[in-house]
Amino acid sequence: MKLIITKDYEDLSNTVADIIQDKIEQDAKLKLVLPTGSTPIGLYAELVKRYKNNEIDFKEVTSFNLDEYVGLDRNNENSYYYFMHDSLFNHINIKPENTYLPNGMAEDIAAELLSYEKKMEAVGGIDLLIDGLGENGHIGFNEPNNELQLRANVTPLTTSTIEANSRFFENKEEVPTEALTLGMGNIMEAKEIIIIVNGEHKAEAVQKLINSSVVTTQNPSTLLHLHPNVTVVVDEAAAKLL
Ligand code: GLP
Repeated sequence: MKLIITKDYEDLSNTVADIIQDKIEQDAKLKLVLPTGSTPIGLYAELVKRYKNNEIDFKEVTSFNLDEYVGLDRNNENSYYYFMHDSLFNHINIKPENTYLPNGMAEDIAAELLSYEKKMEAVGGIDLLIDGLGENGHIGFNEPNNELQLRANVTPLTTSTIEANSRFFENKEEVPTEALTLGMGNIMEAKEIIIIVNGEHKAEAVQKLINSSVVTTQNPSTLLHLHPNVTVVVDEAAAKLL
């Protein structure tokens, strides 16, 4: 596991934008998995800026998302569909048919999850997966538990995640209690993984990930130690306890 400590949030966002730009230059048909949350906002703004400056071309790029809330309509500002379009897809030249998110409103959730995985298979797998880190070590929405799911699944959110994500909602009661997420197996199948983390409130989660000498399902991020190509990119605040 490689660790990059960047100066601040801007530096972190630029560093990861550099990596993505470089990868797309090497392979115009790059297959990405992208995250939501606060952490990637600066990265997406930087990618939009570079697209507008003709520095990156997303024409042939394919993107999947890690997760989506159950029960939120696409037009709901808190849905990850809305977030991805609002912060990235609407502002770059990625083809709409090459952007995939699981549908949290699907009537048949099991069928939806299966078809989502099939689409990932059909494009030939994922080259680069980017993800944030939950304060409790969750990856995507793979929450700490006695067992972790390998495949895409529907999962109840832990109280701490509902608490953490309630900052986006009017009140805690509005936060969905379930989400669709890629499983740990899907995540580990990506050829390369980059974990991005900023802020002092994540320092403990970073320390538990980087310094862990074991893997435990009670901290899903520790499983990343088993992957051959993981880079954790943090800012100085998130690296405070290292
Ligand atoms: C969220 C998402 C994850 C994200 C993580 C960190 O709940 N499901 O994909 O990486 O938790 O979120 P944030 O960047 O807002 O701290």
